Amino acid sequence: MSDPVSLVDITDFAESLAREAGELIQQEREQNTLRTDYKKQTELVTHADVMADEFITGAIRQRFPDHRILSEETMPDLSQAEELETPLWIVDPIDGTVNYAYGHPQVAVSIAYAEKGRVQAGVVHAPFPAEIFRATRGRGATLNGSSITHSGATVPRESLFATGFPYTKDDLEPLVKRLDAMIHQCRDLRRIGSAALDICWVACGRLDIYYENVSPWDFAAARLIALEAGATAGHFSDVPDGYPADLWGRDILISAPEIWEPIRAILRSASGYE
Ligand code: IPD
Ligand code: CA
Ligand code: CA
Repeated sequence: MSDPVSLVDITDFAESLAREAGELIQQEREQNTLRTDYKKQTELVTHADVMADEFITGAIRQRFPDHRILSEETMPDLSQAEELETPLWIVDPIDGTVNYAYGHPQVAVSIAYAEKGRVQAGVVHAPFPAEIFRATRGRGATLNGSSITHSGATVPRESLFATGFPYTKDDLEPLVKRLDAMIHQCRDLRRIGSAALDICWVACGRLDIYYENVSPWDFAAARLIALEAGATAGHFSDVPDGYPADLWGRDILISAPEIWEPIRAILRSASGYE
C-alpha cells in the first residue's frame, strides 16, 4: 500500500497547481489575444478559464484517480458537494474572469480539498500581484509564507465591506436592499470582483466583512483561509439540513469575529428574514 498523503502534502500539491495555473493565465493575458465567450448567455468565460481548468483537473486526476472533482468550467456538477464518501477537490481556475478580461489585477486561482464535506486545505493564488494565500485546517493561514490574521474590527460603522452581484439581472432587488442597509451602517463598500480574494482580504485584514450568494468553487478555499486567520464564517440564513456548511454558498457571511453578529442582524433584517 502507498504511504498516506498528509494534509500538508495536499496543500503543497494544491499550491504547486495554483502557481502553474497562475503562470498560464498570466501568460495567456500578456502574450495572446483572449478569446471570450458567454455561458448561460450572460457569464463571461475566456479560453484561459478553460485551459487552466483542464490543467488543474487533469493533474488532480492523474495524482488522485479515486478523488472527485467539482470545477467551474469542466466539472460543474454541484451534486458532488453532497457526496461525502470520497475526497472532493473544488476548483475555480479563474475567480474574477471579468477583471481578467478587462486587464485588472484582482484575479485568483482557487483550489480547495475536502473530506466528508469539510474543507481541509485551501489555496488562493493571485498571480498578477504574486500573492499566495494558503491554509491547512488547524495550522493557521499564510500570505506568501507569513502568518495572517483578520482586522479585529469591532464596530460596523467603522468597517469596510465587500460583496458581489450575480451575472443575471433578474433578481437584483433583494441584493440592492441589503446593499442599502450595509452602506448606511458601515464605513464603505469595495467591489473587488473576485469572491475568493474578497474573503482572503478579510482573512488578512484588508477588508472587515464579506457577504454574497456564490458557488462552492468561489469560496471553499478562501473560507478555510479566513477561518484559519481567526475570522468568523457562517451564513445569515439557515443551511439546509444535511448539507455541508463548508460548501453552502447562499447568504454567506465572513467577517472579523466581533462584528459578525451585528452584521448578521443587519443582513437578516434587510432580507426580511425577521
Ligand atoms: C465571480 C466572482 C465575483 C462574484 C461572482 C462570481 P467568476 O466568479 O467571484 O466576485 O461576485 O458571483 O461568479 O465568474 O469570476 O469565476
Ligand atoms: Ca468564481
Ligand atoms: Ca471562474
